[in-house]
Amino acid sequence: MLVKRMEDAINDQMNFEIYSAHIYLSMASYFEENGLPGFANWMKAQYQEEIFHAMKMFDYVNETGGRATISAIDAPATEWESPLAAFQTALEHEQLVTSRINKLMDIAREESDHATSIFLQWFISEQVEEEATVGDIVGKLKLVGDGGALFMLDRDLSTRAFTPPQGE
Ligand code: FEO
Repeated sequence: MLVKRMEDAINDQMNFEIYSAHIYLSMASYFEENGLPGFANWMKAQYQEEIFHAMKMFDYVNETGGRATISAIDAPATEWESPLAAFQTALEHEQLVTSRINKLMDIAREESDHATSIFLQWFISEQVEEEATVGDIVGKLKLVGDGGALFMLDRDLSTRAFTPPQGE
């Protein structure tokens, strides 16, 4: 049984994951508009991944005696100065998500909620991967600039497909 403080904190993060999804969907549209369908594809997969994160929290709250509660989601930005600026925003956003997940873990520990600590462990590991993946693309974008190599990177990113992790 979740204590109220834990339930509220997970619900807050669940809604933040939906907000994250909307940011990436908005970035997908920005990339499509700017002739980079591979980048758009990558962002659409990222959108699906964030919805998957939100649904993991939704199911956990409802399965542990709480009530998943959907709240108003802020509108995301719609324009970025460049592909690099968009991915830098994504990296900063993922760093913020990591700090929020760490705070959730702090609450679970303070409440001696061992089940939630185990549940959150998956997200702690996931954030290491999220930051590394986005950071890698930021690094590549810094190298390629606005030239023809951008289109090669676009082709690389066109191959990403979201596959829900097995057994999760
Ligand atoms: Fe759900 Fe990208 O953190």
